[in-house]
Amino acid sequence: MQTVTTLGVLRNSVGALREDGGTVALVPTMGALHEGHLTLIRTARDRADHVVASIFVNPRQFGPSEDLDAYPRQLERDSGLLAAEGVALLWAPQPDEVYPEGYATNVSVAGVSEGLCGGDRPRHFDGVATVVCKLFNQVRPDMAFFGEKDWQQLAVIRRMARDLDLTMPHVDAIHGVPIVREADGVAMSSRNAYLSPEQRAAAAALPTAMRDAVDLLQDGGGADRALGNLRDALRTAGFDTVDYAELRDGDSLVPLDRLAPGARLFVAARIGGTRLIDNMAAG
Ligand code: PAF
Repeated sequence: MQTVTTLGVLRNSVGALREDGGTVALVPTMGALHEGHLTLIRTARDRADHVVASIFVNPRQFGPSEDLDAYPRQLERDSGLLAAEGVALLWAPQPDEVYPEGYATNVSVAGVSEGLCGGDRPRHFDGVATVVCKLFNQVRPDMAFFGEKDWQQLAVIRRMARDLDLTMPHVDAIHGVPIVREADGVAMSSRNAYLSPEQRAAAAALPTAMRDAVDLLQDGGGADRALGNLRDALRTAGFDTVDYAELRDGDSLVPLDRLAPGARLFVAARIGGTRLIDNMAAG
């Protein structure tokens, strides 16, 4: 695996990968890789001839009070994992390579960026859309892979790619890959590393409460009752706050007050200083 940190070398190296006419998949990450990321890489490797992974802790998607400095940076360990998975190229630029002096452009996606994680993380999805737009332009992949754990992020990226005509040769070019869960159901996330053993044990209440809410909705219980029970279960389990617990349409992200085909449950809740998010099909 070749590791590249400058744009000029990246262009040459991706060009060299394309010389045999094979397809190139991009898997964007912020590093601190876990099994969820490796599942994205394996899915990409099954679909494309060459996999390019990026590791870039994108400052523009962190709010002023968020964990940019504390975000785990483990390039050596991560590159070993990527090489072992057969990644051809690692794109690992420094912030000033991505946002050089004078950088002034922002990509903002209305609608799907609003509410849920966009509600209490203003400008977060502008940061995501901006960096992903740049990554697509830098690597020019045939297809790209993102985890469904960040379902709203995936909706923002799909909307942005459609709206800005970021066409890729593959019709279904932006792939969502299902959430990878630990044995107790907790969705894998780099932020799980911040949890103490007690908080980690309590975190299992999140997928359980969500599954219970989905069961209640499917048994005809209303959304208010199902979401109220879910909030109570999380507080009882030791979560400090529930930032949101909502039923929305999985494609448009329009809020729903009752179960409908394509409905999805979205939750963000805090335990200690750590914010966990999850989502689940409901309809
Ligand atoms: O999901 C992530 O890790 C990031 O939001 C992404 C898509 C790599 C953009 O920085």
